[in-house]
Amino acid sequence: MIELVNKLEKEKILTKAEFVRLLGCDESTQEYLAKTAEKIRIENYGKDIYLRGLIEFTNFCKQDCYYCGIRKSNTQCPRYRLTKEDILECCKEGYELGYRTFVLQGGEDAYFTDDRLCEIISAIRGNYPDCAITLSVGEKSKESYQRFFDCGANRYLLRHETANAEHFSKLHPEKQTLKSRKKCLLNLKEIGYQVGCGFMVGSPYQTLENLAEDLLFIKELNPQMVGLGPFIPHNQTPFKDFNSGTLDLTLKLLSIIRIMLPKILLPATTALATIDPKGREKGILAGANVVMPNLSPLSVRKKYQLYDNKVCTGDESAHCRRCMEGRINSIGCRIVTARGDSKNI
Ligand code: 5AD
Ligand code: FES
Repeated sequence: MIELVNKLEKEKILTKAEFVRLLGCDESTQEYLAKTAEKIRIENYGKDIYLRGLIEFTNFCKQDCYYCGIRKSNTQCPRYRLTKEDILECCKEGYELGYRTFVLQGGEDAYFTDDRLCEIISAIRGNYPDCAITLSVGEKSKESYQRFFDCGANRYLLRHETANAEHFSKLHPEKQTLKSRKKCLLNLKEIGYQVGCGFMVGSPYQTLENLAEDLLFIKELNPQMVGLGPFIPHNQTPFKDFNSGTLDLTLKLLSIIRIMLPKILLPATTALATIDPKGREKGILAGANVVMPNLSPLSVRKKYQLYDNKVCTGDESAHCRRCMEGRINSIGCRIVTARGDSKNI
């Protein structure tokens, strides 16, 4: 199996069958995979870990993804939206804590029309010309994406969730399609955003073949960022009785993606920290180089519950910032307060 890792490092791609074999590898190969990924992370980004401040500004959503706790049909979910002033206050606090990227993430909330979003983006852009603005607000028309870009947004996160159309249809209602998701990603790239795709590891009905297809899709899209974390069930969704994705499979995928796209920005996600107390540290040691602590006001954090038992929902932004620093230093890395643009261009 070691030769498969070496082949991946050399050729930056494997066949689908080879990816499937590698994903099923044993512990010693996994260790070699992580070491190789860590070496490549250091070659490209040194010991620097980038910080992104995540502002979860609305949990209203018109979509109904079967896995997600804030899906439209979850009538038990207490809904909230932040005002423009709330969001600017989060940015202010974040800026003082050293954040130079703000990620505005929310459900697909009709209240936030393009006009309203543009107003918010322009205000952040005006106050913080030195910061990157990342959006994660789902599927929109190319015109809308263009307007946000023109107001000052730089980056966009839109996970593809799975590159297999049949699998996609098992995770979403009929009106959501992989085709439309892919089109959005291409539109975002064309406009000039730094783009992030991604998927959940161990989502219901996912096979190792599906994951190999995700890897091939990512290679082809060649994004600037890839967001991935384990699927974790939410007790008020149709997928409440499925198991979570595993730590080891998530770590293998982080390593493979780091080796395949050496300059990619790869977060160690909150979901990873939720299934393992040292998940973020392990993610970084497997090749990740970004962390995205929460900047949302404490009063709403528990309400942005995509999955059960999400960590950090009871902690102040300043607490998370310090905690993160400690965690990263403990593994010999350091947090940098730079915008941290992708070198994968
Ligand atoms: N477990 C893990 N990740 C989830 N997401 C949504 N629901 C869950 C869940 N139950 C992820 C999706 C989405 C991102 C914002 O959060 O991949 O794109
Ligand atoms: Fe939030 Fe540790 S990062 S409490």
